[in-house]
Amino acid sequence: MNKVIIVGQGGHSKVVSEAIALQGDTKIIGYLDDNYHELKLENEVYLGPIRSNKELLLIDPDIKFIIAIGNNKVRKIIVEKMALKETQYLKVVHPKAVISASATIGVGAVILANAVVNTDAKIGAHAIINTSGIVEHDNVVEDFAHISPHATLTGTVHIEEGVHIGAGANVIPNISIGKWSTIGAGATVINHIPAFSTAVGVPARIKAKEGDEVVAINIQ
Ligand SMILES: CC(C)(COP(=O)(O)OP(=O)(O)OC[C@H]1O[C@@H](n2cnc3c(N)ncnc32)[C@H](O)[C@@H]1OP(=O)(O)O)[C@@H](O)C(=O)NCCC(=O)NCCS
Repeated sequence: MNKVIIVGQGGHSKVVSEAIALQGDTKIIGYLDDNYHELKLENEVYLGPIRSNKELLLIDPDIKFIIAIGNNKVRKIIVEKMALKETQYLKVVHPKAVISASATIGVGAVILANAVVNTDAKIGAHAIINTSGIVEHDNVVEDFAHISPHATLTGTVHIEEGVHIGAGANVIPNISIGKWSTIGAGATVINHIPAFSTAVGVPARIKAKEGDEVVAINIQ
């Protein structure tokens, strides 16, 4: 039986906890969240600030961790601060997710209920494919990206690092979305989106780009 510590204790963490319990091969032994000030054991569950990961590894070096925080930037900062080895992260796949045998899933990634990761898709480290997210064939979803509930990436879409695809958004085939961009809930993306942009609507138009004062421009 693997033992896992979940980092983060908000809404996403609750859903990840349930998915881990359903996997059946892993026991949740604690939660780290900076709402706690020091490490304690309560009803046989460790609770402590995020920095106590080092203390916990002294107690049991085989413990694994999962960062269960939906915000991509926060997830990356925590991974950098904890500086663990790749092998110290758990991968969470809900038993009702459908994963192609030819797909690859990175360390610390979370794939939730009814998600589909189809043929030859690649999911990066610490990425989230949320409930009912569809990642079609030949997609690349890079590290720290988050595909929200019911979003659909059609074939051969490239999602760069840290991108957030909002709930129910659709991306047509062969589109690239540049790093750390956000696609609004319900958008339909039909053009490439540059890095650090926010795009919304049907078809998706860029609302804001890093350093811009532009409110809305059309994508050519
Ligand atoms: C796109 C998004 C990030 C913008 O958030 P924001 O920067 O706080 O933007 P605001 O709410 O200030 O809205 C700015 C403008 O964009 C519009 N807008 C915001 N989200 C939109 C959306 N999803 N679709 C269409 N228009 C949208 C607003 O109406 C507003 O328009 P206006 O300037 O004409 O008044 C956010 O609205 C969104 O869709 N987030 C996705 C949330 C989600 O799916 N989470 C899943 C969690 S699991």
